[in-house]
Amino acid sequence: MAATALVNIGTLVTNDATLGNGTLGVIENAALIFEGEQITWVGPATEAPIADQRIDLAGRAVLPGFVDSHAHLMFAGDRSAEFAARMAGSPYHAGGIRSTVAMTRAASDAQLQENLTRLVNELYSTGITTFETKSGYGLTVADESRALAIASTITPETTYLGAHVVPAEFADDPAGYVDLVTHEMLTACAPHAKWIDVFCDRGAFDGDQARAILRAGIDQGLMARVHANQLQAGPGIQVAVEMNAASADHCTHLTDTDIELLAGSNTVATLLPGAEFATRSPYPDARRLLDAGATVAIATDCNPGSSFTTSMPFCIALAVREMRLTPDEAVWSATLGGARALRRTDIGRITVGARADILALNAPSHVHLAYRPGVDLTHQVWVGGRAHRVAS
Ligand code: NIG
Ligand code: FE
Repeated sequence: MAATALVNIGTLVTNDATLGNGTLGVIENAALIFEGEQITWVGPATEAPIADQRIDLAGRAVLPGFVDSHAHLMFAGDRSAEFAARMAGSPYHAGGIRSTVAMTRAASDAQLQENLTRLVNELYSTGITTFETKSGYGLTVADESRALAIASTITPETTYLGAHVVPAEFADDPAGYVDLVTHEMLTACAPHAKWIDVFCDRGAFDGDQARAILRAGIDQGLMARVHANQLQAGPGIQVAVEMNAASADHCTHLTDTDIELLAGSNTVATLLPGAEFATRSPYPDARRLLDAGATVAIATDCNPGSSFTTSMPFCIALAVREMRLTPDEAVWSATLGGARALRRTDIGRITVGARADILALNAPSHVHLAYRPGVDLTHQVWVGGRAHRVAS
């Protein structure tokens, strides 16, 4: 297999403290080699072995590709009017999901596929090399399972979110909808999904419904993740920790007990700063989570209602400015933190044996991701060793 060397890397973030400086394991004047889909050598440029192909990065920064552990890419239409109304003072509420459900049900498979492809190209262009995506805008057996069938052709990280909200036709029978989600819909969706998720919050599902939904999914071999405490402090974090969920997502409103629970668990706190931005909500304090010992990830939450961004650098900048993470912590959370939230050990790091998911920036250091907000800094992205974007 041909070996490709990236040489003349100004600063290389490895996320392995034994390889370089600080928690990010930064090596200056570095090189790396990958063969096929795997990284096979990492170290100082002066010690790099010969490879078949040599790409000179002229002092640029290199880091692991971002791991976006939370996105909702299976939908049709947009909700720009709802966003504009919100910016004029209307509040965000879970019920807005139903308008995307109507547009998604009306879309053809080809339209859903086309929307997905466009968004995935955007994700890759911002440096994301692994992404999770959920169903949740179909809310019928056929619409949820087709969303997951399409999604699973493009990412292994697919999540069944039939329990996003109770659809209009079940407004008078939420228990009947939970029954559908935990039986017929689950049976149709489980073959295309790795994860099960539930929106445990005001206007969606309560703690007991969330437990029943996650339990049913776990019994079918899915792993749990939870939309928790976005709109108010509630049972979401407790449920996530109890069910050994890989991640509790949003964490906008956290009590001291929630923070202690997260810190004492294997459940990652995934923060979604794009959602606070686009719903004009208070940002959670990531500093408190880190100081307590919790693991923090950052993800885009890309969806048409509460966070229509595909940009991880934008989320990093917000997390630094508004959630009190340092630039180093935010970069860690968007890479290895995301990998932890997906319980993956092969991504989020640049070490021998890891997947060759690599981002080269048009900047001398990863700090520029937060320091230069709104600027496209992507120079080149390699996904499993394949260049996604031609160098500029
Ligand atoms: O993660 N919180 C629930 N689901 C999405 C928003 C869905 C929507 O408004 O369409 C989220 O923010
Ligand atoms: Fe979400």
